[in-house]
Amino acid sequence: MGVESDHDDDKGRGCSRAHKWIIDHGGATYTPMIGKAWLSVLGVYDLPPEFWMLPSSFFLFNAGTLWIYFRDVFMALSYLYGKNFVATPTPLTLQLREELYPQPYKEIVWSQARTRCAKSFGSQLWDTAFSLQVMLGAAHHVDDDDNEIIRSMLIKGYDFLKKSQITQDPPGDHLKMFRDISKGGWTFSEQDHGWPVSDCTGEGLECCLIFGTMSSELIGETMDKERLYDTVNLLLYLQAVKYIEDMQTADGSWYGNWGVCFMYGTFFAVRGLVAAGKTYHDCEAIRRAVQFFLETQNVEGGWGESNLSCPNKIYTPLDGNRTNVVNTGQAMMVLIMGGQMERDPLPVHRGAKVLINSQLDNGDFPQEEVRGVFKMNVMLHFPNYRNIFTLWALTYYTNAVQLLIK
Ligand SMILES: *[C@@H]1O[C@H](CO)[C@@H](O)[C@H](O)[C@H]1NC(C)=O
Ligand SMILES: *[C@@H]1O[C@H](CO)[C@@H](O)[C@H](O)[C@H]1NC(C)=O
Repeated sequence: MGVESDHDDDKGRGCSRAHKWIIDHGGATYTPMIGKAWLSVLGVYDLPPEFWMLPSSFFLFNAGTLWIYFRDVFMALSYLYGKNFVATPTPLTLQLREELYPQPYKEIVWSQARTRCAKSFGSQLWDTAFSLQVMLGAAHHVDDDDNEIIRSMLIKGYDFLKKSQITQDPPGDHLKMFRDISKGGWTFSEQDHGWPVSDCTGEGLECCLIFGTMSSELIGETMDKERLYDTVNLLLYLQAVKYIEDMQTADGSWYGNWGVCFMYGTFFAVRGLVAAGKTYHDCEAIRRAVQFFLETQNVEGGWGESNLSCPNKIYTPLDGNRTNVVNTGQAMMVLIMGGQMERDPLPVHRGAKVLINSQLDNGDFPQEEVRGVFKMNVMLHFPNYRNIFTLWALTYYTNAVQLLIK
């Protein structure tokens, strides 16, 4: 690209290292979808036709009808593909054909390259941290036989948390490159993802603090305190109590960007306020959040929010005031955190009854309306939520009832 392929600066940084990195990672046949398309237009990749049969299982609809990015990007690329558009070969592109792959260009089996893709990231930390909190909340209620199963899950989960914490800030003068500190944080997925997320970091720390109170006989070696100080340092750097209060809407709820919707957002906001030491008695925002849930409870005791809340930014109940188990769990936890059990436990009891009765014979909870979302209208199932938020709420409930009895 204008310099020799082995060009390096006097510190040995430059093209030959980058080239080695590409080859060490399997070469350009492992580039993700968009990369494959660009390289093919450039004439240094050969796309087989099936490429455009986009998988639709991840998204609920055909992607082309759903999201402007898909239309913008994929339709334009489809046109280029349909026209078989390939740039006229030049000495440079011929050279790239040699550089981008570990094997000779003519020997690449393109139909096999179609399903290759370098590692991409999922929601491992997010799902693991919630599942662990449910398990940790329930651990003292289970009998000895189940205990061994749960203990081995906890050990493995804790081990994952230890391995996935980010232990370094970004290299170099990262502030100059618009990167915050990251040491001590957790990402949405795994350590080598590299970007800490404030709420993922909060969930990771929450788990580790609970693990830190347990005997190492039970859960193995506890995490080095210094590593948790790093987390606290990062969270203080990002701290946001006033921001949370400022973001509350007029009806007492918070808009949720990543789930459906105000009920999801309100659950996390109230958890944050409670973690910062706020209570129903000294925090107006918590009182209004409790009021929001008391007003939106359905006749039979559950809660259910429509995905229309997300694009419209106005709280909307599900059609016919149907109940959704995920929202019901979120609502119950907010009420319990907001001290509702001491004032009038009936709304919480009624919610718990709905959850208990909706559990299936095999222990699972029903997969109902989509509860995850991003960009306001791209809906994702997040199938773990139906178990996480329900069981989590029931552990909150069981603990709250026991306190009440005492
Ligand atoms: C969103 O809600 C509308 C109205 O209730 C419904 O027709 C639609 O199927 C929902 N979308 C998803 C992805 O569930
Ligand atoms: C849903 O609940 C609201 C508020 O309680 C009520 O006004 C409305 O009539 C209910 N709709 C149905 C279909 O039950």
